[in-house]
Amino acid sequence: MTTNSTRPYVAAIDQGTTSSRCIVFDHGGAIVSVAQKEHRQIFPRPGWVEHDAEEIWANVLDVVHGALRKASLSTHDLAAVGITNQRETTLVWDRATGKPVHNAIVWQDTRTDQLVKELGDQDRFREKCGLPLATYFAGPKVRWLLDHVDGLRERGERGEVLFGTMDTWLIWKLTGRHVTDVTNASRTMLMDLETLDWDDELVEAIGVPRAMLPEIRSSAEVYGTATGTLEGVPVASALGDQQAALFGQTCYSPGEGKCTYGTGSFLLVNTGDKPVRSDNGLLTTVGYKIGDQPASYALEGAIAVTGALVQWFRDKMGLIGSAPEIETLARSVEDNGGAYFVPAFSGLFAPHWRSDARGVIAGLTAYTGKGHIARAVLEATAWQTREVVDAMNADSGVELTTLKVDGGMTANNLLMGFLSDVLDVPVVRPIVAETTCLGAAYAAGLAVGYWSDTDTLREKWHKAAEWLPTMDARTRDKGYRKWKKAVERTVGWID
Ligand code: G3P
Repeated sequence: MTTNSTRPYVAAIDQGTTSSRCIVFDHGGAIVSVAQKEHRQIFPRPGWVEHDAEEIWANVLDVVHGALRKASLSTHDLAAVGITNQRETTLVWDRATGKPVHNAIVWQDTRTDQLVKELGDQDRFREKCGLPLATYFAGPKVRWLLDHVDGLRERGERGEVLFGTMDTWLIWKLTGRHVTDVTNASRTMLMDLETLDWDDELVEAIGVPRAMLPEIRSSAEVYGTATGTLEGVPVASALGDQQAALFGQTCYSPGEGKCTYGTGSFLLVNTGDKPVRSDNGLLTTVGYKIGDQPASYALEGAIAVTGALVQWFRDKMGLIGSAPEIETLARSVEDNGGAYFVPAFSGLFAPHWRSDARGVIAGLTAYTGKGHIARAVLEATAWQTREVVDAMNADSGVELTTLKVDGGMTANNLLMGFLSDVLDVPVVRPIVAETTCLGAAYAAGLAVGYWSDTDTLREKWHKAAEWLPTMDARTRDKGYRKWKKAVERTVGWID
């Protein structure tokens, strides 16, 4: 416990795929202030996605300033700051100068396709790290950098350059410490899920020098005290954004879960203090670890492209001017007119894990108009969720009875209604839909004694909206069959 725990607010920094934001929360868990800034998406080649880590750092400083300024706060008002972040996105920087040696390679990037194939059978490391071999994860991305940036491997072996995901980068910039948390480490393919430490066999097989790896810590503890913009504020939590949302949705008991609708969508269900292996294409991951308490694990259905498809529809097709306009366009028609859009832009993630898949729009006729495509874009999010819910039900042997949701796309009523229809369960959203930042703030607040325990946090969850299923079973089953046919058409595009 620190003396800072009597200060009135906790801040969270969410370094996401498309933007960074800072939200300040009060003791009731209500939002006091928000600032947000987008960063560039760099696409050097088809399938490659990069971010400029210096730009992201500058944006993080801007949004921290912005959030404090908007509520006329100073750093003395903050009991702690928590970090949450896009997971798997991989950066290497020079320990002495702090300069990145290359742009960050983003989680959606498929450049490690060949490398991943060469590393062997998809399930080779699954028992230890809970993950299939796929382009998604950080370990193969570091290996790519080591193989392609001149002299990097030698410098890595000497510990002159450091590896980190975005949590590590921000904590290092804020406090000078080179650490990560168990949730982020569980996405590298380099950590053993049982020991919660880097594993010699994994590190060696994937080929990453140990000297460049950060220390793995819990998700809620004081890693250090910030200097500069957040001078004197304890940096007291780090969680991958999906795990933070699980925590913010107060899914603290086995069987409780949530789905977050952002750039991609991620359904996580708490499985308690033992990792559960999936037989149905889900990921086994660390949910959170609060200080010295045992870790809580989760099963995860990761979908690469949902909100990103709406963004693509806006930016690349120019058929809408802003993301919310898609709902108006989709409502201009009765149904999808037979069109199905499978957005396999980064291959297909759960439950398929096909790096060779690419996007398709199926079922087109001369009748198809832009309203139908807008519907197909939205419906893709719901059908992809259906696939991971089916996998989750099969793995757990228990049918999901309600789905807690959050994230930007939950503002779309047409989509949320359709989601409830295709899952045939109620879909509910809490009052504070910013659960990712809230989860990071909760964890940081627990670490410094600002909040006492998870029971206190659970009491703050209140339902704000609910969507109930209205679709008949025949329509739902027919739609799902068509969706599956469209999915079959996505595979085998990469030789
Ligand atoms: O695993 C990738 C995920 O963490 C990205 O989340 O919300 O930035 O799209 P988001």
